[in-house]
Amino acid sequence: PPACSVIPEPWRFDCYPERGVVVTKEMCEARNCCFIPASSSLPPSRRNGIPWCFYPQEFPSYSLVSLNDTSLGQKGQLVREVKTYYPGDILNLELEIRHETDTRLRVRITDPSNSRFEVPITVPNATEKAESPAYTVELSKEPFGLIVKRSSTGAVLLNTTVAPLFYADQFLQFSSSLPSQFIYGLGEHRSSFLHDVQWNTLTMWARDVPPMEMTNLYGAHPFYLAMEEGGNAYGLFLLNSNAMDVVLQPAPAVTWRTIGGILDFYIFLGPDPGSVIEQYQEVIGFPAMPIYWALGYHLCRWGYGSSNATWEVVKKMRNSGTPQDAQWNDIDYMNHFMDFTFDPANFATLPDLVKDLHAHDQRYVMILDPGISSTQAEGSYWPYDEGLRRGVFINDSDGNTLIGKVWPGLTAYPDFSDHVTHEWWYDNLKSFHEKVPFDGLWIDMNEPSNFLDGSTKGCPSNSLENPPYTPGVLGGLLRGKTVCASAQHKHSLHYNMHSLYGLMEAKASACAMKRIVGKRPFVISRSTFPSHGMYSGHWLGDNRSHWKDLYTSIAGILTFNILGIPLVGADICGFSEQPQEELCVRWTQLGAFYPFTRNHNAIDMKPQDPTAFSSLAGTAMKQALLLRYSLFPLLYTLFHHAHVHGHTVARPLMFEFPNDTKTYGIDRQFLWGSGLLITPVLDPGVNYVVGYFPEGLWYDYYTGNSVRSKGEDMRLPAPLDQINLHLREGTITPTQTPNLTLWVSSGQPLHLVSALSEDGSASGDLFWDDGESIDTYETNQYAYIVFSVSQSVMTSQVLHNHVEATFITVQSATFYGVKQAPGKVLVNSQEVSFIYRPNQVLTVADLGLNLSKNFTISWM
Ligand code: GLC
Repeated sequence: PPACSVIPEPWRFDCYPERGVVVTKEMCEARNCCFIPASSSLPPSRRNGIPWCFYPQEFPSYSLVSLNDTSLGQKGQLVREVKTYYPGDILNLELEIRHETDTRLRVRITDPSNSRFEVPITVPNATEKAESPAYTVELSKEPFGLIVKRSSTGAVLLNTTVAPLFYADQFLQFSSSLPSQFIYGLGEHRSSFLHDVQWNTLTMWARDVPPMEMTNLYGAHPFYLAMEEGGNAYGLFLLNSNAMDVVLQPAPAVTWRTIGGILDFYIFLGPDPGSVIEQYQEVIGFPAMPIYWALGYHLCRWGYGSSNATWEVVKKMRNSGTPQDAQWNDIDYMNHFMDFTFDPANFATLPDLVKDLHAHDQRYVMILDPGISSTQAEGSYWPYDEGLRRGVFINDSDGNTLIGKVWPGLTAYPDFSDHVTHEWWYDNLKSFHEKVPFDGLWIDMNEPSNFLDGSTKGCPSNSLENPPYTPGVLGGLLRGKTVCASAQHKHSLHYNMHSLYGLMEAKASACAMKRIVGKRPFVISRSTFPSHGMYSGHWLGDNRSHWKDLYTSIAGILTFNILGIPLVGADICGFSEQPQEELCVRWTQLGAFYPFTRNHNAIDMKPQDPTAFSSLAGTAMKQALLLRYSLFPLLYTLFHHAHVHGHTVARPLMFEFPNDTKTYGIDRQFLWGSGLLITPVLDPGVNYVVGYFPEGLWYDYYTGNSVRSKGEDMRLPAPLDQINLHLREGTITPTQTPNLTLWVSSGQPLHLVSALSEDGSASGDLFWDDGESIDTYETNQYAYIVFSVSQSVMTSQVLHNHVEATFITVQSATFYGVKQAPGKVLVNSQEVSFIYRPNQVLTVADLGLNLSKNFTISWM
């Protein structure tokens, strides 16, 4: 039919998304859709190709039949006359538009007659309509559609008239055009940082699988950030935890396809990428301020085999002078892999090891998996016996404890949706802590993972297990390597709660740790969901010791930074397979700039800690880690801004240069904050690296030599023993003399490095507190200092003082880009000696200034 042929291929919206079926003309027309084979040769059963079966323009949708003003915006009624091809159409819907803030619009489409599942995270409760919104909302009545524009430019951020709206019990779908093809976020996936819009389906459903492309992974984050013309950015968050597909197509356009819950989404108007992320985190919650040692080097492996073997590595690290803040153990510390136990033979000295770590200002972290062994003799394993008594476990659809299988054999799964479970989790942690005084928790396998599909009894056959439509989850079944979708939590069905499991466990764990240690909790989790940053960090899971995995880790880290989980890292040197020495050196150099830095290794792999290689390699790794430790004042301050303002720590270049489209696809380099550019080597056998330098003046971090870029690629020498670092003009970076632990290192004198802009100015800041108390910012127990340089005068101004600042000395200041040799240098009006080098670097040493007092340094 002509109505079909007028639709260009990029604008075809898939009418037959079911996988594994070859769609015929008859099947397609039975859905009243258009069938036209695509011009390219991709087979129609492939889910990442041009659809052959797509909606005609007149495909029936909802109509907007009434609309009323409300205190926050508008409410309307949507009616569908013609049923869709999925069961359980909800023919009458309520539409609510809330102008929550000037930069935040919320749209909710709900069933007015039956309440449906809603994601149980706390979001702000707007009470007043935004006064001068940065957006306009237009409504199309017949068929119903929403068009959201940026008022200032007219850019169309949302236009749902491009495809029909579906709202069936287990199939909810809407599509929209996109203002550009530059779209980011939508975790957790392995991909480039910038998503491909060439028919790319991103499925979300928490899954335990070593990261690979085109597959749902450990976490689910239905949020994207997208660019518009002219450097503006906006974001969209669909507050929905059900299994879903997000389809990107070259129109460019996006389709959200979820199989439960409601349609409840936010649009954030930015207008710059950083503001979008900040506005997103105002909804999901800002990340916690980490305890200081979270930012040190963490060493782990699966299969040390004994506490003494673990201890040996710790000692080797100390002897080699390599910084290490935390030693971890994997499941081999446990007695038969059972939570809250330790192997009484091989790990008999574990409590002594932990004592020794503490005596050296180091910390101990161990793994916990959610599965609780269900096969121990009654009375011999309190966690299970007590869990049963208190009814903390997930039940199957018949109301019996659901049994799956993980490392300890058959297991029950705690239902973290219930506060009773949180209390039981705390009781277990507390009593284990009395035996082994651990400092942090590594929570793994919390997708939740199951070696069986569903349970020991399989799963019943019903519409939860076999929904009318199943998103593109790995293996095609919701229960694949997890518990049954029809399993029951206290709060709701696993069908709805599945991707929230890691978040709920992280919350229970962080709250328990807070009570037990009385300090900021340290938790690292594999599965995540929006809000997760409030409770824990994340690592990118079971990567491999491949150069490709080194590269993809950057996109992963940047994506989690825009998802509000800045404390993120990948297993340094790779988890599975054996790393070559060169790879491990390069990886440690890049890993030194992961916000969370941990080397972790799979069982049976050769050791890959920094002491396991040649002395040349070991030294290079040690240097990289010392460099990280020296930058702790900067890193800590960046985390403060993440906590308070929702800023990114590891930052994509496009955040700082949104008007430079050449930065949009960069994921081989990144920044710390606004000014420290990291250009790692990601390839074997090279002694140079090519990096992009946005327009401006950049200084080599180590020498102060400057390069001016017009916005171009530059080829940099990259010997094996050093990572390329550059300071952006206009920034001031606080650093410290590093040491073996952050406890010692963070007490050392400060060195301030100013990278002057063309006009001789620069600025920077420092957040300082005791590093571990809860809510220091919220309770005013911190110091905050701003540094600035202008017209040959540096000032340090204490905006908020605290006793912690009095313990720190500012020992030296270096200025990059001082064009002429000064005649004299004054510190607080007293003349001092200085060094000036021909590469325009001025250094003033032996300052002995107290950080808690304002000071000036000037030269003339
Ligand atoms: C999972 C984790 C991995 C851990 C292993 C054993 O594969 O992702 O980090 O080492 O389980 O506990």
